[in-house]
Amino acid sequence: MRDAQEISGKFADLKELCREAAGEIRKHQDLLVVSHVDADGLTSAAVVCTALQRLGIEYRPLFFRQLDVTALGQVADHGADLVIFTDLGSGMVKEICSLGLRAVVADHHKPSLAEDARPLAHINPHLVGADGATDLSGSGTSFLLASALAEAAGSSGCNDDLSALAVVGAVGDLQDLAKGHLLGLNREILEIGSKAGVVSFSRDIKLFGRQTRPVFKMLEYSQDPYLPGLSGNEDACIAFLKDVGIRLGGERWRRWIDLTQEEKASVVTSLLRKGLRSGVSHVKLERLIGEVYVLLHEREGTEPRDASEYSTLLNATARYGYADVGLRVCMGDRDKAFEEAKHLLNQHRQNLVNGLKLVSQRGITPLRNIQYFDAGEAILDTIVGIVAGMCFQMADRSRPILAFARTPEGNLKVSARGTQDLVRSGLDLALAMSGAAKAVGGVGGGHNVAAGATIPPEAKQQFLDLVDSTVGCQLSS
Ligand code: C5P
Ligand code: ZN
Repeated sequence: MRDAQEISGKFADLKELCREAAGEIRKHQDLLVVSHVDADGLTSAAVVCTALQRLGIEYRPLFFRQLDVTALGQVADHGADLVIFTDLGSGMVKEICSLGLRAVVADHHKPSLAEDARPLAHINPHLVGADGATDLSGSGTSFLLASALAEAAGSSGCNDDLSALAVVGAVGDLQDLAKGHLLGLNREILEIGSKAGVVSFSRDIKLFGRQTRPVFKMLEYSQDPYLPGLSGNEDACIAFLKDVGIRLGGERWRRWIDLTQEEKASVVTSLLRKGLRSGVSHVKLERLIGEVYVLLHEREGTEPRDASEYSTLLNATARYGYADVGLRVCMGDRDKAFEEAKHLLNQHRQNLVNGLKLVSQRGITPLRNIQYFDAGEAILDTIVGIVAGMCFQMADRSRPILAFARTPEGNLKVSARGTQDLVRSGLDLALAMSGAAKAVGGVGGGHNVAAGATIPPEAKQQFLDLVDSTVGCQLSS
């Protein structure tokens, strides 16, 4: 979906769906907003909750790790007038309707086929021929709904500031990864945010921690791309920067945002030169530079100023059962909730480091068409997908990676990650995971490039065989 006219056509189609949804929402009071426990889910919920708050409509937020039949039962028990599902729901439309829930679904995951089932309104990029993995996030879909709500109330544009959260959600879902920048409908939203003065975009180094980490730490922790001789080696990073002529600190360590344009350019040039000398491919090195997104109303040097750091801060809350903290941060709390979130972020970082160590000790098992590792109980099921994604940057990228972890209920959580190259060759992990999960009595879904499932633990081998053969078929067709 590259053609500008095509994009604006899809944008208009989605807006039409949003108008329908806004009309339904305005007929109700006492709403339940149900969302997903990740950065995109939190920002989606925050966008919709803020829009409702501005209209004086009462709402209660509710978060789930996964929308299965049990979760839907809990939703129904709340007895709300209307339920708005954000960043989830499209895979469960049939179940939502058969429970008789009055529902609006604003999601970007692949919708399941549900011939006769229709919620009050269903907004999803896939329904207008756009790709929910790259063109629009859950928070982007929610933003379009928030815009329609403002329009219906005669205050068009008053929710344009919420586009900043939509950008954070899209970045949290790694929608900018394939091309190094946001595209499709995400780009339209970015333009709205830029016009509203809430977000800016520019080409810069794409390493994590530009706002908050000392430069040498930013290099040391770089995973994507992995920098041979620098990643994981603090002394080497300090020596490298000194060599380039960068002063590391004065009163405090200098962060990337403290460097001058000339200093930044010297570091990038030297990193590229060093990478090429160490045999890092051009393709990988190209990922070092890309578009970065700055939230202009946030304080410089804090996590929420940078879309990528913001999304990690949010993951550190909701994925550990503190969605309420993340939601309060998204809705503007820079006091108590923000401090709590930063505390959770430190623990999250440690968990990721431990997770990566564990995988490098246990190793990744290759099968014919996929590869996998089983973390057992050593990595939380809610972050095993992030660990899988990080390992995958350094692992064999010719076949998708699957990661297993035990859930607190004793089930097996599976996270799968692929590459855009594999998707271009036919890979569709959402289809592979949902099909295999269904066959073994579990549930799965997601996107072509990243998907997940929950299955009974005894079905692991059968599930692996099924996914292995399905992926084999996808890649050979
Ligand atoms: O949990 P994980 O990060 O591996 O999920 C990858 C993607 O697949 C996410 O977008 C998630 O919402 C989706 N997913 C899904 N159904 C599941 C599990 C994950 O749609 N049962
Ligand atoms: Zn999402």
